[in-house]
Amino acid sequence: MMDFRPPADAWSRRDLMRNGFGSIALLCTVATPDVLRPRKATVTSAAIRSQAKSPFAPFQRDLPRIPELVPVSTSRTRDTYAMTVREGMADILPGFQTPIYGYDGVYPGPLIRAKKGREVVVRQTNGLPFETNVHLHGGYVPAAHDGHPMDVIAAGGSFDYHYPNQQDAATLWYHDHAHGRTSKTLYYGLVSMYVLEDELERELGLPEGEFDVPLVLADHAFNRDGSFRYAENVDLGFRGDTLLVNGAISPRMAVQRRRYRLRFLNASNARSYALRLGNGRAMTQIAGDGGLLTRPVPRTGIPLHPAERVDIVIDFSEYGPGEELVLYNTDPESGGGTSAVMRFDVEGGAVSEEFRVPRRLRDPDPLPAPNARRTWNLALGTAAWQINGLGYDPNRIDARPRLGSTEVWTFVNNSNRVHPMHLHGFLFRMIGRSSGPVALADKLGWKDTVGVLPNETVSVLAWFAPYSGKYVFHCHALEHADKAMMLQMEIV
Ligand code: C2O
Ligand code: CU
Repeated sequence: MMDFRPPADAWSRRDLMRNGFGSIALLCTVATPDVLRPRKATVTSAAIRSQAKSPFAPFQRDLPRIPELVPVSTSRTRDTYAMTVREGMADILPGFQTPIYGYDGVYPGPLIRAKKGREVVVRQTNGLPFETNVHLHGGYVPAAHDGHPMDVIAAGGSFDYHYPNQQDAATLWYHDHAHGRTSKTLYYGLVSMYVLEDELERELGLPEGEFDVPLVLADHAFNRDGSFRYAENVDLGFRGDTLLVNGAISPRMAVQRRRYRLRFLNASNARSYALRLGNGRAMTQIAGDGGLLTRPVPRTGIPLHPAERVDIVIDFSEYGPGEELVLYNTDPESGGGTSAVMRFDVEGGAVSEEFRVPRRLRDPDPLPAPNARRTWNLALGTAAWQINGLGYDPNRIDARPRLGSTEVWTFVNNSNRVHPMHLHGFLFRMIGRSSGPVALADKLGWKDTVGVLPNETVSVLAWFAPYSGKYVFHCHALEHADKAMMLQMEIV
């Protein structure tokens, strides 16, 4: 059966120092970067990057593909998987090993590919020395399997999460949600994707297989020994100076001259992105958090706040062999090592593809008229960010929507920070925002997270189905959520 002990190669601080310094010596003989000489306790990764042959230079590595998990068993109606939450090592900087927490010890964790109508069971074994749990972000999941912050797996224990997969195809993701430490556990690696597919989507003939590419974006920083550097900032949230895509620094990806489906997830603690192709050409957005839009939307700039997902199609047959196309992050709060997301290197070869993105992707869902209206004020309390002046209290219910009803929820942000607001268990439609019209792509699909901009008011229509029970809703800037920016609802 399962082995609960940490693996033999588990890292300790002493091992780390030894390995770290060994690697630095090696690196110095190659590049002689002054700042890497061990005269100061730590230097910032920004300083290291300024060196000519910096390990932080973008486009040095090929995009790592996220490994797909194979079920341990399958039946007519269900696929069963097993993974262990444990410590591991990641190859991020050349010559260094970066200690992480990972699902099966890897970062990002293994990808689960699920089919609508087939149940998925994931046996999660906690090989970490503290409590953890797993939240399927964006999933319609019964409350007992949602990864509520108070439902945790003890160190050494395990839990079988049952996911019914009764919702439409969507790019979901999973991550740790034990209360009070998600900013650290996600930063150190407890995150991956869960791709839900269905027949309707399949019939559209969208790019699949190697042409369907999940991309996990997260900003990080490094210590001189190659370990992740984390500094808590309760106000801003953590901001790293280096952008990782699937665990590689701004990687490159060889692409054929055809269409690709790219699934972007913002798995950053608190950084927002704005995706833009270097030549300013439009990308075709086909899906958001909750799955396909009713029709494709061409976009030149795509905002991506923490926890949001967008699926886009790029047609690389429009580019010549040998062309290099950079995808940038133009969010005004980014720059330096977080401004280049990745590069697409167009290969030679003829264009043979016949496929076009269909003009209709799905039918709109009719919704019942709203049953109630609620307003949530997002503001800084005396010690932490709060909602309606309240901090998270698992023993208090802050809203009781009726099962099957819809409600208009209005988030009022009177602060100068972005608050990406997320509802567990349910999806919503965007209704309005005070900063301007709702983007077309946001109007044509379901969402589970919305970035409420500084001094902005945003209204959404949330649909409280299909499950009753207790779920949380919170800001997905993780340092905000960890403290108090989370409330609880009970669907009755
Ligand atoms: Cu990504 Cu409470 O969730
Ligand atoms: Cu917040």
